[in-house]
Amino acid sequence: MVPKERTRYVYDSDQRAIPYDEFMPLIFIGGVPRSGTTLMRALLDAHPEIRCGEETRIIPRILGMRTQWERSATEKKRLAEAGITSDIMDSAVQSFILEIIAKHGTAAKHLCNKDPFTLKSTIYLHHIFPNAKFLFMIRDGRAVVNSVISRKVTISGFDLKNPKKCLQRWNQAVDTMYSQCIRVGSSVCMPVYYEQMVLHPEIWMHRILKFLHIPWNESVLHHEDFVGKPGGISLSKTEKSTDQVIKPVNVQALSKWVGQFPEDLVKDMANIAPMLRVLGYDPNANPPDYGTPDPQVKENTLHIKANSNFWKAREKDIFDQNPINQAKAKPKQNIQKNGDIVS
Ligand SMILES: *[C@@H]1O[C@H](CO)[C@@H](O)[C@H](O)[C@H]1NC(C)=O
Repeated sequence: MVPKERTRYVYDSDQRAIPYDEFMPLIFIGGVPRSGTTLMRALLDAHPEIRCGEETRIIPRILGMRTQWERSATEKKRLAEAGITSDIMDSAVQSFILEIIAKHGTAAKHLCNKDPFTLKSTIYLHHIFPNAKFLFMIRDGRAVVNSVISRKVTISGFDLKNPKKCLQRWNQAVDTMYSQCIRVGSSVCMPVYYEQMVLHPEIWMHRILKFLHIPWNESVLHHEDFVGKPGGISLSKTEKSTDQVIKPVNVQALSKWVGQFPEDLVKDMANIAPMLRVLGYDPNANPPDYGTPDPQVKENTLHIKANSNFWKAREKDIFDQNPINQAKAKPKQNIQKNGDIVS
């Protein structure tokens, strides 16, 4: 039973009060960065009853700190001596995360969070938010690494000059997330393959909304119409995927990685990144046959190619809405030690 006084309220775009507490069915979207997490959250943000919003950045950090507090036996003993039990820490972390999610954007009936690395803490998040659901974005690791390197996405632990090490890092991160997703079970965590979602958005969005127990709405099939609209999709000028998710769902990014890796890496892919095979990708196919896009997706892709000037102008519009264009500023080196920060 939820004691009444623990329920707090935020207000949606029509000033309706939205109750929030730790028992609400929060939605967590994650995965290795560059796996379609931004697209996933944009599609859900287009739904009138869902708000995800920009990456909060501090939720994965607090989760990292919580792990560190438990990790050292000496520290744990000191905390216990001070009366700081695991339960107290959990309740503090829970309130912190809940406040950030509830208040960093316009409220909606269903609140959602997207910070890619939170899915490394699926088991813990499931423990402090027992009714939360998790969407685990999976993408071909070769495409992920090529995107990280070519778009210069700085992620702690990824050496952008060393594609082999990046593939190993991808393997390790996706392994951790996958095993936690399996552990919490299929009614709690749903793996979503980026390739399948962009090839067949309608089927996948139906499945995803059903999994989340949220009624269907057509808006999720044309998210590009809701960018920057009230109650729609709020985008950050400093996130690396913003220029991509303003466009309708398309297959431009699927096979860009082909031909980008040195021959010896390509040959040894099954050993370097064994998770490829575990997840169903053929490590020896260049590229694997991801499938045939739905007619609408095919049309979107052709449209984007044929109207590249229109989409460049649209991108400029989005970024110029704020006179200080932070996206063009060089990203600062991140000095966070406990990891998993994307910039
Ligand atoms: C979908 O959402 C719009 C508001 O964005 C609403 O007007 C419409 O009735 C909804 N459709 C369904 C089927 O719920």
